Amino acid sequence: MNDLAIHGGRPVRDTLLPYGHQSIDEEDIQAVVKVLRSDWITTGPTVGEFEEAFAGYVGARHAVSFSSGTAALHGAAFAAGLEPAAEAITTPLTFCATANCVVYQGATPVFADVCTDTLNIDPQEVARRITTNTRAILPVDYAGHPADLDPILDLADRHNLVVIEDASHALGADYKGRRVGSISHMTVFSFHPVKHVTTGEGGMVTTDRPELAARLRLFRNHGINSDARQSQTAGQWYYEMVALGYNYRLTDIASALGLAQLRKLETNLVRRRQIARLYEATFSEMPGVIHPPERPEVTSAWHLYPIRLDLPALRFCRAEVFAALRAENIGVNVHYIPVHQHPFYRERFGYKGGEYPRAEAAYDSLISLPMFHGMTGRDVQDVIDSIDKVIGYCRR
Ligand SMILES: Cc1ncc(COP(=O)(O)O)c(C=O)c1O
Repeated sequence: MNDLAIHGGRPVRDTLLPYGHQSIDEEDIQAVVKVLRSDWITTGPTVGEFEEAFAGYVGARHAVSFSSGTAALHGAAFAAGLEPAAEAITTPLTFCATANCVVYQGATPVFADVCTDTLNIDPQEVARRITTNTRAILPVDYAGHPADLDPILDLADRHNLVVIEDASHALGADYKGRRVGSISHMTVFSFHPVKHVTTGEGGMVTTDRPELAARLRLFRNHGINSDARQSQTAGQWYYEMVALGYNYRLTDIASALGLAQLRKLETNLVRRRQIARLYEATFSEMPGVIHPPERPEVTSAWHLYPIRLDLPALRFCRAEVFAALRAENIGVNVHYIPVHQHPFYRERFGYKGGEYPRAEAAYDSLISLPMFHGMTGRDVQDVIDSIDKVIGYCRR
């Protein structure tokens, strides 16, 4: 009997395999070094080049970069006109930044429960939550699987709302043949190291609407209506601050990395899909484990690979399975603690738990397995062997 590592047996791996990891090659390094040797290291020409290339890739008219995905969400909340008294509807099953950007603007996030298959926001639940104060809907493309955007955009049309899609997980995903980034009124991306493209920290908002792009640019630059490079080039000193903004600018250093990374995105997406297929082929035959779905009308970007445990079929709860997998040196994670269950949201908005039964039930059974394009065949097999070992032991 192959003892579980948590019981003193030999772990499947000798070193920890993280759940996500960046890949940086020599081309990335040289691109950054080139900018370091140039005149502009903060917001200069490379930012513009990165924005243009990014807009071209997703098929949007405008791309506005930010210093993080969170800053990009904040910019989008500002551009959408969220202010005190406004409500914005989002999913509880996301990273807290999606809801926080609404709070930053003094507005109120309202949660709508998720679909039981994709764990994306359920458009019917969104419809139930719309009031006269609703101004925006923030769907999240959970794990890289696009939310059901058409019914959400229909609701937005009917109620005059802005759709801010949080596509932090979904760079390169498609929905009904359209690329994520070209569908919603604004789409937000993150370039955190575990994402498909990294700039260290960084983010982007894409939009087809010039007035939204202008508000985004204003917001990331203190609310000032010109940028330093424009002024310097034009030999001008005068500028006006016309709204309260922030310094949320991305640097040329980061943008050089982003540009070099973007060139490898398609290859990396292919690798992520391969890994997802290998996992799916195994887990669809393994009682006790439910693999994430991919609806026929979408192509997921496979940022995460969140399996669900079939808890009635197992003798142990998620925390125990999680600890056993960690002991095998598999760097599992959990995405996400539903946002309304965090102490800040409980205290500020009075949530008690039980309000969003589908998201809460999903949370109890979720475990994210390692998923990143740099994983080797050996890494993938180690994950499969560990799940087989641990779930085999846990099955009733
Ligand atoms: C769904 C979601 N939204 C927003 C963010 C925030 O992005 P960043 O870390 O770039 O600020 C993340 C990052 O992990 C995320 O996963």
